[in-house]
Amino acid sequence: MSQYPALRLRRTRSTAWSRRMHAETVLTPADLIWPLFVSEGADEEPIATLPGVSRCSIPKIVERAREAVSLGIPCIALFPNTPGALRSDDGREAFNPDNLMCRTIRAIKDAVPDLGVLTDVALDPYTSHGHDGLVDAAGYVLNDATAAVLVDQARVQAEAGADIVAPSDMMDGRIGLIREALEQGGHHNVQIMAYSAKYASGFYGPFRDAVGSRGLLKGDKKTYQMDPANAEEALREVGLDLAEGADSVMVKPGLPYLDIILRVKSEFQVPVFAYQVSGEYAMIEAAVAAGAGERDALVIETLMAFKRAGCSGVLTYHAPHAARLLNP
Ligand code: PBG
Repeated sequence: MSQYPALRLRRTRSTAWSRRMHAETVLTPADLIWPLFVSEGADEEPIATLPGVSRCSIPKIVERAREAVSLGIPCIALFPNTPGALRSDDGREAFNPDNLMCRTIRAIKDAVPDLGVLTDVALDPYTSHGHDGLVDAAGYVLNDATAAVLVDQARVQAEAGADIVAPSDMMDGRIGLIREALEQGGHHNVQIMAYSAKYASGFYGPFRDAVGSRGLLKGDKKTYQMDPANAEEALREVGLDLAEGADSVMVKPGLPYLDIILRVKSEFQVPVFAYQVSGEYAMIEAAVAAGAGERDALVIETLMAFKRAGCSGVLTYHAPHAARLLNP
């Protein structure tokens, strides 16, 4: 039997103060991780498919890092656009201790030591074929040989001062190998955020433009990134990465995979992060440009959805915009 009219759920929604008081989920700038692209080129190069986002020189990135701190954003994520001449079949520039990435990490840690720096571990910004790992003659991405190189890449990043290394490559076994190398190198407090459930997605296009790998990519990444049809497999991936020593796990892309976030959180009770990826950002910006939606509302609503699903935080290109909206 209905309890109406005694019970009216609209009652608590009827004023702004009451809505605020009854909010079940809170979003703050501390929930945001800001991905940034660094290049050797001009101070700022716009990325056509990621309107409002630029590749930046190291000094410009340092400015962004200071901005992050002033906005209350706890951590930035760095991605390099490696000059073409330094890309190779084996991606060896990835573990050059003086590569663009390592120089950027050092510059940020010098200037803004209290800002968290997360680095991507994968070979795609460094390979001439655009894959995240080493390929054999048939173009298959080799697992164990790649994992060994990723260990070297994570090591130089940690030595340069990275706080969180985030393997985004989806090779089997790499979390354990990287953890072991970090321990041996004395980097006990360098965290691993595992891209555990990373799907072979159509939403990565603008990112590949940003790091310059789109035109280079031969084929697709379906032999290592997950099939969007699968959810149980995501739980297995998360379980393995945790067993191998991951401190936190990531689900990627974001909104299309909220069900995965919820299931991971319910099953494991560990810190879960989402990556609201480049194509998701581009969709919001396209909607805004077409007059189909309002940026502020779309940004806050989508970020709130991640928190509601159980995320500890979100990597998002809208981080500075969202932080401005959330700061008093
Ligand atoms: C590659 C990597 C990708 C992203 C982060 N790391 C792209 C890919 O797997 O092809 C995508 C992020 C985004 O689209 O914003 N290791």
